[in-house]
Amino acid sequence: MTYSRIVGTGRYLPERIMTNADLEKIIDTTDEWIRTRTGVERRHVCAEGETTSDMCIEAAKVAIEDAGIDVTDIDMVIAGTTTPDLIFPNISTIIQHKLGIPACTAFSLEAACTGFIYALTTADKFIKAGEAKCALVLGAECITKLVDWNDRNTCVLFGDGAGAVILKPSEEQGIISCHLGADGQYKDLLYYPVGASNNLAAAGTDAARIMMTGNDVFKVAVKTLGKIAAETLEDAGVIKEDLDWLVPHQANIRIIQAMAKRLDMPMEKVILTVQDHGNTSAASVPMALDVGIRDGRLKPGQLILMEAFGGGFTWGSVLMRL
Ligand code: UT7
Repeated sequence: MTYSRIVGTGRYLPERIMTNADLEKIIDTTDEWIRTRTGVERRHVCAEGETTSDMCIEAAKVAIEDAGIDVTDIDMVIAGTTTPDLIFPNISTIIQHKLGIPACTAFSLEAACTGFIYALTTADKFIKAGEAKCALVLGAECITKLVDWNDRNTCVLFGDGAGAVILKPSEEQGIISCHLGADGQYKDLLYYPVGASNNLAAAGTDAARIMMTGNDVFKVAVKTLGKIAAETLEDAGVIKEDLDWLVPHQANIRIIQAMAKRLDMPMEKVILTVQDHGNTSAASVPMALDVGIRDGRLKPGQLILMEAFGGGFTWGSVLMRL
């Protein structure tokens, strides 16, 4: 059986860092509140003219070099993002062209914070079907451009960044099982009220900001992620004790701790970036994966569970061997 396997990773974080102390100067908050309620200590913020595709290019270059491939080997680009450069053309075509990848299948997926898990799952299917031989898969976000910097309920949470992986067919085990889900009944708990076909005139006004009922999102996230993790392991015939690492979406340290507890995993087996990156939405899982691989904690052959949850609600998990 042919698997798809991650053979290279990369990440990019914008230069500018905003600490909790910086936020204390602009809103009524404290470093202590942000750290204890969310785990975030600092976050990276895009420069004025910096776009999501700019960050993707940098992350992709690192992943391509890590995989030891040439751009001409790539025959598919899929990016998960809710903050594309333009409404169209889709961001993956911009990335394909800027990187010099020959014309290929290129599209983007919008699944909020679950964007990368959706993109990776999709690329896995193309590779297993023999329709792609080398996919560039990204999760990236300039989410701070959607944030109201006067709203302390949301602005302390988010950060920008991009993560990229190269996915290729392999006879060795790579991606073992993927699970995706979504339920639009929860739309009003987390949304951005401006779109191409709805309320476009509000773009750039005070009404255009992330709307979130944090407490309720928190509860559904913990419940749903716990369920999907259990389903993923069961489907793959794997028990919790077999897992080497959890690479979770980095929305809130308390959600991550709750997940680790459900999986009976000590926090030493969890890749944590929320303190340095904040919630980077679709970028958080691929960046955390890259951090863990590059600092030597995640090793070839290990069993890794990645999971994410976001606006929609959307959710998903990928179980894989590195
Ligand atoms: O990425 C995908 C999905 N997103 C998430 O998963 C986010 C999930 N939700 C959360 O992470 C948490 O709900 C938050 C971090 C957003 C909020 O934490 P919480 O423990 O649920 O706090 P809360 O919303 O219940 O607010 C508690 C108090 C409130 O004051 P009162 O009403 O008790 O007087 C807030 O006004 O904390 C206040 N508060 C703040 N205080 C200082 C809210 N934001 C801040 C702040 N600094 N930045």
